[in-house]
Amino acid sequence: MDAKTFRQTYLDFFKSKGHAIIGGASLIPEHDASVLFTTAGMHPLVPFLLGEPHPAGKRLANCQKCVRTDDITEVGDDVHLTFFEMLGNWSLGDYWKAEAIQMSFEFLTERLGFEPDRLRVTCFAGDADAPRDTEAADIWRSLGIPQSHITFLPKADNWWGPVGPVGPCGPDTEMFYDMDPSGPPDETPESNPGRFWEVWNDVFMQYDKQTDDTYAPLDVKNVDTGLGLERTIAILQGVSSLFETELFQPI
Ligand code: GLY
Repeated sequence: MDAKTFRQTYLDFFKSKGHAIIGGASLIPEHDASVLFTTAGMHPLVPFLLGEPHPAGKRLANCQKCVRTDDITEVGDDVHLTFFEMLGNWSLGDYWKAEAIQMSFEFLTERLGFEPDRLRVTCFAGDADAPRDTEAADIWRSLGIPQSHITFLPKADNWWGPVGPVGPCGPDTEMFYDMDPSGPPDETPESNPGRFWEVWNDVFMQYDKQTDDTYAPLDVKNVDTGLGLERTIAILQGVSSLFETELFQPI
């Protein structure tokens, strides 16, 4: 599947799940003064994640071009880019963890044909700011992901946002694809990140980080997901580096 077909497949899937398709925004953020570039799909949506009604409704999906310079030292491996496209589905006070995770699982396994055995997931381990996300892990187990393929990790790994000092944020659950299923069964995305490619995260945005570093609950709970276009098409194309896809080969 090429990038163009994949992008449309994603948007069509979420349209069929009641999402309005909205356009991507400029790389220069319009609604978020905390960053110089749009680093994620959330920046154009910050006012709506904080409670302002979005004119297109409570279920949105889009493809957002991003510049993420914090990964610049990783560029040169098989999977990191500074400029990439992120596909996202959004719930603005509509569905929550169960539906978000179910839709991610359905898209990966039924629509893209990823074998469930090659998926690993991580969930937030909990700390003084927010509880351990046993709810997300229970949902993954109910979908058939065995406990041995679920890892709990701290905020450094399983928390998204804010990118600047303040703003909407929350724990996430991350989905990884096993590039070497014949590898040692006890390896995890944490112990061998080169083997397990992170493809998607579902962020459960339920906090607004304050200037004093405390986390105030948001009035409405939102979902923000980010599926990496370049990584996913590399997997679908059976290549072992983003640079082997048709997006880079002509260059
Ligand atoms: N969906 C959050 C991010 O990774 O950008």
